[in-house]
Amino acid sequence: MANELKIPRHIAFIMDGNGRWAAQRGLQRSDGHRAGAEALKNMLDACSEQGIEVVTVYAFSCENWSRPQSEIKFLFSLISKFAKKELQNYADRGYRVMFSGDLTQLPQSTKNAIKKVMDYSKNNTGMIVNIALNYGARQEIVRAVNMILQSGIRNIDEQMFEDCLYTAGLPQLDLIVRSSGEKRLSNFMLWQCAYSELIFLDKYWPDFDKDTLIEILKEYSSRDRRFGGIK
Ligand code: IPE
Ligand code: IPE
Ligand code: MG
Repeated sequence: MANELKIPRHIAFIMDGNGRWAAQRGLQRSDGHRAGAEALKNMLDACSEQGIEVVTVYAFSCENWSRPQSEIKFLFSLISKFAKKELQNYADRGYRVMFSGDLTQLPQSTKNAIKKVMDYSKNNTGMIVNIALNYGARQEIVRAVNMILQSGIRNIDEQMFEDCLYTAGLPQLDLIVRSSGEKRLSNFMLWQCAYSELIFLDKYWPDFDKDTLIEILKEYSSRDRRFGGIK
């Protein structure tokens, strides 16, 4: 059927615009982040309904440490709560929850909460929810290079390199969606994006809902992915 949706195996969301969404309503940035967490729940449900295998979401970048302490503190308390309640709920429903990023630097309470849900869900076979947390693509690449150097291997291929990334074993990243009108990757998945389709939407992340995902999948379905070949 001509209008049948193509479903990406692996989709990523750069969840941007929580602060501007709040400002537009005369609310605090923290209210925007809270609304963003609600939107994330709706989007994860929508992705699961559409049969997407892996959803990666950019929740906190290595560069986000430059924000005010109060905002950072709020974000990690929100993430801890999200892990304990919502992610645990997804884990109970068979989703696998994983994280990409340097987790060693996180507040202890956040570390505990995410380790718990990660361990609990590690053998689940449902949709994979991959949360990029304290994630930076350049940092990820340098970490991979150091892992290779430390192993003593002197010659690698692409597969060996990929195996050293946080996303090892996941399907190729088919589609990256960024909200809020910004048209940049902000240090997100620079290796993995090599052949990703890119979609930039003007709406702020808290306004994303099930209909937005349908819009996104329609756009994705209209793309001709040639991978360097010809028709
Ligand atoms: C995205 O929203 C959430 C994080 C980066 C943690 P922002 O907080 O970046 O919202 P804007 O871009 O200031 O509107
Ligand atoms: C990217 O958003 C990081 C996350 C969504 C977690 P930012 O709001 O931090 O990105 P810049 O600063 O606009 O590039
Ligand atoms: Mg932003």
